[in-house]
Amino acid sequence: MIFTCSLPAWILLALMHLNNLISTIQSNLNFFEAMSMKTNEAVVNAAGLLAGTGLVAVIGAGQMGNGIAHVFAQTGYRVVLIDVNAEQLEKAVTTITKNLDRQVAKGTLTEEQKLAAIANIQISTNLAEAVAQASLVIEAATENVDLKLKIFKQIDEAAPEGCVLASNTSSISITKIAAITSRPSMVIGMHFMNPVPVMKLVEVINGYATSKEVSQLIVALSKKIGKVPSEANDYPGFVANRILMPMINEAICSLHEGVAGVESIDTIMKLGMAHPMGPLQLADFIGLDTCLSILRVLHEGFGNPKYAPSPLLVNMVMAGKLGVKSGEGFYKYTAGSKELVVSDSFL
Ligand code: CAA
Repeated sequence: MIFTCSLPAWILLALMHLNNLISTIQSNLNFFEAMSMKTNEAVVNAAGLLAGTGLVAVIGAGQMGNGIAHVFAQTGYRVVLIDVNAEQLEKAVTTITKNLDRQVAKGTLTEEQKLAAIANIQISTNLAEAVAQASLVIEAATENVDLKLKIFKQIDEAAPEGCVLASNTSSISITKIAAITSRPSMVIGMHFMNPVPVMKLVEVINGYATSKEVSQLIVALSKKIGKVPSEANDYPGFVANRILMPMINEAICSLHEGVAGVESIDTIMKLGMAHPMGPLQLADFIGLDTCLSILRVLHEGFGNPKYAPSPLLVNMVMAGKLGVKSGEGFYKYTAGSKELVVSDSFL
């Protein structure tokens, strides 16, 4: 006010500009300060992960979650396996122990290495507490978009600033998941294949905002745990399921149209294309509900009728015939038996 009365207009204007300039510099300084803190934390975190000292949190104690925990623990990482269901967590540890026993019996792991791997695994039903010290969180919960978004919001609030957040999703957009967090550049897809301890591939999915550094870190880490990473960008089905699911769907359409029976279709693909399982057996192994939901993501995402799920697949899922996990799909499954018996519905 004092200036307004005594100074000429051009000096006042210059002073206002100076004031604006100072506040712009100030806010930029705060921004760079915050960014460099974030970067430093991320760098320390990445170094810890590559040195094998970081804690890896795995969310979801199902088939994929326990396989991922198994592989990291076997490589020497401390792992915390998280699930809302305490019983599921106990079951997961039993499964991991059985699978490690199998490796010991084959001579690919010593008894000491098995015990060390088991000792590396903690379990928890408290997500916020369990991810609070994590260097990497890998979400392997049920393939449901709303559930994953809810989980990622919780992880983002509880995990340290430098922690990388990965999803094992087989088809949900990494970009969409990343957008719900405050750190989209640090969100990435790590798509493991089932059975995780056996399958070499990790499909690394870069979301729209995933930074190059995070992508390189996850590629290096995947190699460190003995896997072969391969990168893909974030489009429906990524690469693995964009190619695999239309094949499975076509096999189901061929069965539905009476081109051939279950055994013929699987034998032709197994022996003719050197696939370890035929497409119908593989669909049962993956879960028919999972196959259907991935096909729906492809169909909706591309808007192309070539991805429309077979009506037979839709019917089987509605009837609760989900494959191995429900005891029946294209084949019938009996616990403890490896014999492949075609379901009565297809005889
Ligand atoms: N943990 C550790 N080892 C395991 C295991 C597990 N869970 N399951 C199997 N193994 C090992 C066995 O010990 C055995 O090892 P050796 O060969 O060294 O003796 C080997 O795997 C083969 O096991 P089996 O003899 O019991 O059975 P198999 O010969 O029929 O092989 C299979 C089983 C590995 C599952 C094989 O059939 C296969 O490769 N199938 C195709 C699997 C596939 O395509 N997976 C990807 C599915 S798609 C997906 O996961 C992603 C998605 O988004 C849908």
